[in-house]
Amino acid sequence: MKKYVVIGNPIDHSLSPKLHNFWFKKNKINAVYEKKLMNLNNLPEILKDLRTGKITGLNVTVPFKKDIIKHVDELTQVARTTQSINTIYKKSDKIIGDNTDAGGFESALNYINFDAKNKTILILGAGGVVSSLIFTLNKTGANIIVTNRTLEKANQLKKNFPNIKIIEWGKKINADMVINATSIGLNEEDKFNIDLSNIKNKLFYDVIYNLNKTDFLRIGEEHGNRTENGMMMFLYQAKLSFKIWHGINLKIDSEVISFLKNV
Ligand code: ATR
Repeated sequence: MKKYVVIGNPIDHSLSPKLHNFWFKKNKINAVYEKKLMNLNNLPEILKDLRTGKITGLNVTVPFKKDIIKHVDELTQVARTTQSINTIYKKSDKIIGDNTDAGGFESALNYINFDAKNKTILILGAGGVVSSLIFTLNKTGANIIVTNRTLEKANQLKKNFPNIKIIEWGKKINADMVINATSIGLNEEDKFNIDLSNIKNKLFYDVIYNLNKTDFLRIGEEHGNRTENGMMMFLYQAKLSFKIWHGINLKIDSEVISFLKNV
């Protein structure tokens, strides 16, 4: 039986096993998808399992999307540009690192009917997922502003994406869309510590796909903004990984959405 694994640390929160196993059943694929808590020094081990065929595909989540790069043989163009891998597979004996987060975000924007062209997008955070967001927004021609508590990390991003503008954490600015790409909200009690009350009647988008409303989305709602969480981005990145591994183009329909909302 083919085996697929998502690795990360922490990993308990990941819904990928439930989702992929749901799709296996629906598509009568004889495979299993598991999650594995990893440390940096276990990465070579799991890649060896991929080389020997013990594992057929890997998803990579926080905090290893960058660290894993040196363990693969080739990067796809999107993985190279974003310097971020979330999907790994073997092709002609080579281990390929790919990125479906960027494509997942692109599909999620389409799903909510948001055209970022010429819009000002404020990204909060400079962690693992942000390069994928910028990759997609650059394709649409948006004005991108990034702010991060640790300024240096935002400046690092600018080396890869010179068109982005960096501002100080907490500085007030108007935007058509604000994206929470920080980890604030992963825990229910997390509170946002910057004032976003000047942004009204726009779009607040949280990459976090917790089922409960994050503080960020609650603040957005309070000021009349439309709010969206990261669930559709999560679903679409998984759909794209599924296509890579199994060659099947799944439909994202109300059945899978309600399955995910109820797990
Ligand atoms: P990593 O930084 O290892 O890539 P991540 O979960 O992808 O991990 O990113 C976490 C993001 O949330 C970072 O942008 C982090 O800001 P720092 O770079 O300053 O650490 C941000 N973050 C986490 N907790 C925060 C807090 N309490 N206030 C502001 N930003 C926070």
